[in-house]
Amino acid sequence: MARITASVYTSHVPAIGAALDLGNSDEPYWRPLFKGYEISKQWFEDNKPDVIFLVFNDHATAFSLDLIPTFAIGTAAEYTPADEGWGPRPVPKVIGHPELAAHIAQSVIQQDFDLTIVNKMDVDHGLTVPLSLICGQPDAWPCPVIPFAVNVVQYPIPSGARCFALGRAIRRAVESYDEPLEVQVWGTGGMSHQLQGPRAGLINAEWDKAFMDRLIGDPKGLSQTPHIEYVREAGSEGIELVMWLIARGAMGDVAGKPPPTVVHRFYHVPASNTAVGHLILQNPR
Ligand code: DHB
Ligand code: FE
Repeated sequence: MARITASVYTSHVPAIGAALDLGNSDEPYWRPLFKGYEISKQWFEDNKPDVIFLVFNDHATAFSLDLIPTFAIGTAAEYTPADEGWGPRPVPKVIGHPELAAHIAQSVIQQDFDLTIVNKMDVDHGLTVPLSLICGQPDAWPCPVIPFAVNVVQYPIPSGARCFALGRAIRRAVESYDEPLEVQVWGTGGMSHQLQGPRAGLINAEWDKAFMDRLIGDPKGLSQTPHIEYVREAGSEGIELVMWLIARGAMGDVAGKPPPTVVHRFYHVPASNTAVGHLILQNPR
């Protein structure tokens, strides 16, 4: 049986990718940010999974406004880093896990979540920046990745409650896979930020920190937060945080089982226009 060992949560700012790719990570602006991920990189080295199930949002890169899947699972053998207007990032291509992805699609759809199956997709900063933050700058990514894209760009978008329930369905799917794979589920995006309009630049550190507290200790209660609160308190792009609830829902603390342990917690303001939050939760063995 496969199992979910841990979940990783992190923001995904494009400028972080550019800082790494251009060799600027040691500049005074960036140093404190990357320092917050040093523990995570070491932890990842010591706890390398067989597969990463990576929940992210596409930023109108692979999916234009012509076609907007709410939840899309990548079942391809590989994915190319996307050109987002200034050339593709110089990072390795992403190797998929078609067998596990197809199994999860089968199981989750049979649990009544209507996923879109994606056999070809370029992956943008939403996916590649978290990989760079945790895995560094290797010649090849350390393990296969199953991309799972969530629409948080064009309303209507899924609720936090729906995302949390989906995470639970993903855990059941993984646990019904026949091979003894260790899987990490990553939830990416957020934290508070707004990129346009009169409130551009909005950061709400107090709200972000309370979100992290509740994600750890009261995820089901947190999942009831309505969209309007995310937008009001965390800015229009703060809504990306609903994706963290998918990863949290996939953790093992159901039916009286113990909660995950907090391996690492980090918060930094700002990176570009965004409050960066990062968390690692590990299931007890
Ligand atoms: C920024 C943040 C995002 O989440 C994004 O998708 C694009 C830009 C930013 O802070 O610049
Ligand atoms: Fe984003």
